[in-house]
Amino acid sequence: MNSSVSPPVPEDLDVSKLPGHVAIIMDGNGRWAKKRLMNRIKGHQAGAETVRRIVRTSREIGIPLLTLYAFSTENWQRPEIEVATLMSLLKKFLDTERNEMIENNIRLNAIGQIEKLPEDVRISLKRTMDLTEKNEGMILNLALSYGGRAEIVDMVKAIAGKARDCKMDPDSITPEIVADHLYTRGMPDPDLLIRTSGEMRISNFLLWQIAYTEIFITDTLWPDFGKDEFVKILIDFQRRERRFGNVG
Ligand code: IPE
Ligand code: IPE
Ligand code: MG
Repeated sequence: MNSSVSPPVPEDLDVSKLPGHVAIIMDGNGRWAKKRLMNRIKGHQAGAETVRRIVRTSREIGIPLLTLYAFSTENWQRPEIEVATLMSLLKKFLDTERNEMIENNIRLNAIGQIEKLPEDVRISLKRTMDLTEKNEGMILNLALSYGGRAEIVDMVKAIAGKARDCKMDPDSITPEIVADHLYTRGMPDPDLLIRTSGEMRISNFLLWQIAYTEIFITDTLWPDFGKDEFVKILIDFQRRERRFGNVG
């Protein structure tokens, strides 16, 4: 055997203390392409390769839940050709990775305004979700046409509707009930949020869920993001003291 091949899980990483939920704002495809004097589309193609790599790595390491911010409610404002490319890359990802997800026991889930996606993408998405429904190795949660504010508005509508129909007493509403009416119902909040490409903002991602999430922002552009840096961030996460408002 070749001894230079790195082990699937590096020694410095404590596999008993992995984050239960990692969320990633995959940013920087456009800047990656611009640096190379290429069209933004090339950046998105390279970014799709990183998605494959990071999903594989997460499964190998044993991350139970990975949420990837792939397309925001605001991203619909981008030029039509860019939106169309992102949608076709999404469909291609679903169609080409479906078998690997099945083989690797990965369950696909999606959050966001799925009804706004083009029909062919919705069909591929549904097919992949149906075929991976019983998988338990990891959940890959794609945020598609996702916006944190839209999610909160949908939650308020759902709860207000139940109150109007006398199915819920407004005085009984708790943070747990709110969480149960978000797209992420049943999922733990992210322990770790990574944003690539250096922007110090949340861009409407998981607004309710990140109340106590550890944040890590790297300057690396998404297409250049890889396993080594991901593992370093996980090790950094494991060294942090999370206090949740309490004393250390
Ligand atoms: C992330 O890369 C992909 C999406 C938001 C869909 P960007 O396209 O935002 O890349 P930059 O920020 O312009 O570099
Ligand atoms: C956030 O990136 C959305 C996704 C990664 C899907 P953006 O590139 O859209 O965010 P802003 O516009 O820089 O805030
Ligand atoms: Mg961006």
